[in-house]
Amino acid sequence: MHALQSLHTFALPSQCSQLVTVNHWQQLTEIDFSQPFCLLGEGSNTIFVDDFVGTVIKMALKGVAIQERDSDWLVTAAAGENWHQLILQLLEKGIAGLENLALIPGTVGAAPVQNIGAYGVELAKFVEYVEGFDIDTQQIVNLTREQCEFGYRDSIFKHALKGCFVITQVGLKITKQWQPELSYGPLQHLKHTHPSAWQVCQAVIAIRQSKLPDPSVLANAGSFFKNPVVSNQHVSKLKQQFADMPTYFVNDSQQKLAAGWLIEQAGLKGHQIGGIAVYHQQALVLVNQGNGSADELVSMIKYIQQQVWEKFAVKLEHEVRLLGHDNEVHIQGAVCE
Ligand code: FAD
Ligand code: EPU
Repeated sequence: MHALQSLHTFALPSQCSQLVTVNHWQQLTEIDFSQPFCLLGEGSNTIFVDDFVGTVIKMALKGVAIQERDSDWLVTAAAGENWHQLILQLLEKGIAGLENLALIPGTVGAAPVQNIGAYGVELAKFVEYVEGFDIDTQQIVNLTREQCEFGYRDSIFKHALKGCFVITQVGLKITKQWQPELSYGPLQHLKHTHPSAWQVCQAVIAIRQSKLPDPSVLANAGSFFKNPVVSNQHVSKLKQQFADMPTYFVNDSQQKLAAGWLIEQAGLKGHQIGGIAVYHQQALVLVNQGNGSADELVSMIKYIQQQVWEKFAVKLEHEVRLLGHDNEVHIQGAVCE
């Protein structure tokens, strides 16, 4: 058995039967994918809520290549590269564009899976292709951005290609016509200062450090739930009672709500169940205070879902991937319609 506590940032004391570290894609051809397996980067969006009776495959492929073209750069980064280090490395070379996504933990290979996003930017904007190992054919194939079916915290890798595609590298197209993206509230004040990409990067880092706990200090997995998308009709109803509720238009008929706001308004900021707590500075983040257990975490998830349902009639879906005994598990607390 191999300990998993140090391999995922929520740091529950779980174990797996086998651990394989992949440094070359050819190693993938030697793995028996007919047995339970789980792909892992740096474990910042994965929580092992049980001992895993299968192989944990830690993706550690390294390498970054930059090709200059007429109007853009094609940056090719291997799945095991650290995402934030890649951004810093590119900024040092004068290649700007990814700075709003600074300090998001994890690997390049996991970034397309949930289409990482922050401060008005999503990874999808930059993806030219995603290269991966097709488990059925044992071949390396390339997917275009369109084929990745990116959405809010979503992609084909969570659906049709779940469990059959191992991302080996990502090709990012970064335009030379850099424009800062400053639409997100706390970045808007920079508009008048004509900031450089480094300054935007530093501002993003400062905002993140003021709101989000550093997993190496306090175990967590970032935002625990997705921001729910509901109909305009439902928003109108809620606004009669909660006039100051933040909402963001997604399309003509739907709006996104802030799950952190809903959880805070349900009175759950700082709420504790055993060693698991709702983070006191950001209610969308759950933390493991060091001695938390999987049972306590599951109770907390269900409790939050139930309380938010009772107060707002809104269902919260966890964004974090939970790994059970031999597969991913989804928790939907007792919510009655
Ligand atoms: P892991 O947790 O190891 O894996 C995540 C998922 O991807 C798993 O389902 C895994 O099976 C799959 N996977 C991993 N590697 C591969 C591969 N090579 N091929 C196929 N599948 C693979 N996310 C955001 O979008 N925006 C944020 O602002 C943000 N902030 C965060 C802040 C904190 C403090 C933390 C802890 C997390 C935050 N996250 C954020 C979530 C997390 O950083 C991202 O989801 C990140 O992409 C996870 O990378 P990882 O390597 O740790 O993935
Ligand atoms: N809010 C509260 N109370 C809280 C937390 C938030 O009232 O405890 C309110 C804020 O005041 C604000 C709104 O909710 O009006 C949104 O909050 P914030 O801007 O902090 O962003 P978020 O919706 O909580 C999302 C992403 C983050 C990403 C930030 C910045 C999701 C699930 N989360 O958080 O991503 O970094 O926006 O773009 O979409 C992650 O995925 O792990 C993650 C951290």
